[in-house]
Amino acid sequence: MTGTSSATDNAIKKVVILGGGTAGWMTAAYLGKALHSTVDVTVLEAPSIPRIGVGEATVPNLHRVLFDFLGIEEEEWMRECNASYKMAVRFINWRTPGKGQSGPRELDKGGPDHFYHPFGISPEHDNIPMSHYWFKNKFEGKTDEPYDYACFREAPLMDANKAPRHLDGTSPTRYAWHFDAALVADFLRRFATEKQGVNHVQDEMTRVEKDERGFVKALHTKEGRVLDADLFVDCSGFRSLLMNQAMEEPFVDMSDQLLCDRAVATAVPHDDEANGVEPYTSAIAMSSGWTWKIPMPGRFGTGYVYSSRFTTQEEATAEFCELWGLDPETTQFNHVKFRVGRNRRAWVKNVIGIGLSSAFLEPLESTGIYFITAAAYQLAKHFPDKTFNQTLVDNFNKEIEVMFDDTRDFIQTHFYFAPRTDSPFWRANKELKLPASIREKIDAYKAGLPVNPAATDDTTYYGNFEAEFRNFWTNERYYCIFAGLGLEPDAPLPILYHKPESVAAAQAMFTQVKKEQQELLNSLPSTHEALRRLHAK
Ligand code: FDA
Repeated sequence: MTGTSSATDNAIKKVVILGGGTAGWMTAAYLGKALHSTVDVTVLEAPSIPRIGVGEATVPNLHRVLFDFLGIEEEEWMRECNASYKMAVRFINWRTPGKGQSGPRELDKGGPDHFYHPFGISPEHDNIPMSHYWFKNKFEGKTDEPYDYACFREAPLMDANKAPRHLDGTSPTRYAWHFDAALVADFLRRFATEKQGVNHVQDEMTRVEKDERGFVKALHTKEGRVLDADLFVDCSGFRSLLMNQAMEEPFVDMSDQLLCDRAVATAVPHDDEANGVEPYTSAIAMSSGWTWKIPMPGRFGTGYVYSSRFTTQEEATAEFCELWGLDPETTQFNHVKFRVGRNRRAWVKNVIGIGLSSAFLEPLESTGIYFITAAAYQLAKHFPDKTFNQTLVDNFNKEIEVMFDDTRDFIQTHFYFAPRTDSPFWRANKELKLPASIREKIDAYKAGLPVNPAATDDTTYYGNFEAEFRNFWTNERYYCIFAGLGLEPDAPLPILYHKPESVAAAQAMFTQVKKEQQELLNSLPSTHEALRRLHAK
């Protein structure tokens, strides 16, 4: 046998994906494209087992890494998925004590208790990020403008409910999307089955058959089907039927870092014409967690993410109803229990977990869908043959582990540094341990150093997923959250005191931001108008 024919013999010929939620169909469509239809892909989905299905917020790489890769225009999928625009997460009342309320309270020092966490890499001057010139100005009393308003064009645009795109489709800013995750799964199912030849089997898996090496050989179903394959992807949601159950891969619980483990969610009708549409996700601090607000055309999805250690379902639901003025008798609630953490390994033998079956972090930074697209991307990059080279497997696992743990640490800091201590939940967060890896970053920030500065500019960073994946939470991200919560460096970066010319020249960056804010305020349409036109087509 020649080397070429043995390589062909070893090629993976069949993949079965268990589960048809967002993870299942995103993975199917991604593999359909990445493998150029050389592999027979089947999605097995039990219609009787519901998807998680809450309204969802995303991050900007979704379009480029997934839809653009699939050759689907942004306007097309947005229309199909009832999507709207997201320019940031707006954190409300994370500093001041009090009950959950949708509008910001007043800070002690004056000004509203809210801050934005927008996307984008800020400019730098003399190899020092704009954030550091801002902090020097602030430290010396030369500005009292918050970081998000001084360094990003987006903050006043969001206050005015402006869209991130002009009506001709050009966009001056980075943005992501809000959408109905169930519609995304349905849209990708149609795409994958109609355009890529992905097989769709509607049946419930009841038994896993393994071979003598412990590799999965076939999935048996309620209706008597036997689906065999070379590679299996577990997208079965929190049940993790293949990874945790069949393969017995342990789930590493991380509830010692992140306390929230429940959500109560609903959708609230909204008069877009009368009230406008907010182009951001809100994260409103509550007594035992926080509430998301995700605007979509005609309604907003919302959910109180709370910790069952500090409140009951009944109390949380009552607090949630009070926030939005909901009638508990007539409102339909979706109560979700979740686990925080990840499987010890994302890939074991011939089974890979993607989506909730593999890992879950609470949705504060909207990373669930990102983790799915990133895992599909990494799977295509590390796609094996039937020999399952262990280095491919180990590398994939390392990538997923770093992606997850880095994000987990970043999210923990939101709760840890939130200054409020007015309830047992907020106090308990401050007593948790921060891992050494995030401690190092905090030390760097306090010493005035940039944390994970992007090695490239905004365009290169967002144009190259490898660059973004390797450094997802950049200096801007840490600055937004830390400065937004009132945590500041001990002093400006000392070298700045030896660079008077750079400091003087850097002020032009702030003038430029102000100028662009004004120009964009004058030229961008409202989010409502942009969405009305998009969805009317
Ligand atoms: P999901 O549970 O949706 O799907 C599982 C699939 O497996 C279903 O199709 C089911 O039928 C199938 N299945 C199960 N057992 C089976 C069997 N025996 N046989 C056959 N099929 C079977 N993410 C984000 O990016 N932004 C956000 O804002 C949020 N918000 C959010 C809030 C809350 C409260 C939660 C819990 C999660 C989020 N997420 C999120 C995460 C996001 O919801 C999630 O990552 C995706 O919806 C993916 O879900 P899955 O497809 O993994 O599971």
